[in-house]
Amino acid sequence: MGRITLDKVTKSFGEVNVIPPLDLTINDGEFVVFVGPSGCGKSTLLRLIAGLEDVTSGQIRIDGKDATQQAPAQRGLAMVFQSYALYPHMSVRKNIAFPMKMAGVPEDEQKRRIDSAAAALNLTDYLDRRPGQLSGGQRQRVAIGRAIVREPSAFLFDEPLSNLDAALRVGMRLEIMELHKRLATTMIYVTHDQVEAMTMADKIVVLRAGNIEQVGSPLELYHTPRNEFVAGFIGSPKMNIFGGNPAQQHGATKIGIRPEHIAASTETGTWSGVVGVAEHLGSDTFLHVHETGLAETVTVRVDGELPVRHGDRIFLSPDESKLHRFSEQGLRA
Ligand SMILES: Nc1ncnc2c1ncn2[C@@H]1O[C@H](COP(=O)(O)OP(=O)(O)O)[C@@H](O)[C@H]1O
Ligand SMILES: [Mg+2]
Repeated sequence: MGRITLDKVTKSFGEVNVIPPLDLTINDGEFVVFVGPSGCGKSTLLRLIAGLEDVTSGQIRIDGKDATQQAPAQRGLAMVFQSYALYPHMSVRKNIAFPMKMAGVPEDEQKRRIDSAAAALNLTDYLDRRPGQLSGGQRQRVAIGRAIVREPSAFLFDEPLSNLDAALRVGMRLEIMELHKRLATTMIYVTHDQVEAMTMADKIVVLRAGNIEQVGSPLELYHTPRNEFVAGFIGSPKMNIFGGNPAQQHGATKIGIRPEHIAASTETGTWSGVVGVAEHLGSDTFLHVHETGLAETVTVRVDGELPVRHGDRIFLSPDESKLHRFSEQGLRA
């Protein structure tokens, strides 16, 4: 079981309030991602759930039981950090065994759990090595192994892949998702990377300045962002946002249109502009278009083969059915 409920939880450091009253339910077995810009309170929220910080007010329940005053070890959760926090002088086996040794798990049970975690994480051949003899990805797997053997009711990950290079990050991302499918245990995963959030989550919690801006599945957030902040944060390249006349024509203070929902043509279209930069990715091209009268730059995602260059005149036509309308306050209209 791993159902976690936050009820009007707040956190202040001295005079500074970091988490205003916040309600959130995480269902058993869910993969939940907390995403938001640096400093928005993601780690603080995770640490409150783990019990590494005390709440200032409010209640945290784990599987229906009040855990607000429980010490971290009593909560039955396991946390994995960005810095792997392994013991350098201990073998992989001893590192993984450590929390079980602390908890007094019998030796034969320890061995069974280590073998099973090592098999799940492709670490079987590395159990006698020390952390210094492993790659970054392998070290992160050891840290995850150490969490698995505790058989927690939920895993808490705080930006676990930020120290890895881009290719390794994608690989580890898939491994963590596979692990979640296999264990079916609740996972809460913190990241500032919206691509990680979109690809991994069952449910995304978008945070800004300690506030929950929106909770939803990746596609809910993509299709119906509740406000301009979520609209701009989810999706890559970012949604274009325009005010002025084009917005007024659509009965809104501002309109948003994603780069993939604007067609580009060298002959005709609704809007006209001049290509600033064309980023050729092979599969797609991202055009950054100036002099449209809409915004300083309009970003458009087009076919990888469209033969356009810096300085070319280009015509843009939005798919009207994909427009997002926002009020003065930036709320979805
Ligand atoms: N121990 C602390 N004492 C004072 N302020 C803190 C402490 N920990 C975090 N903060 C502040 O709380 C805010 C949220 O921090 P954090 O949760 O680490 O953000 P994130 O993980 O989203 O980058 C930041 O403004 C940070 O400076
Ligand atoms: Mg953080």
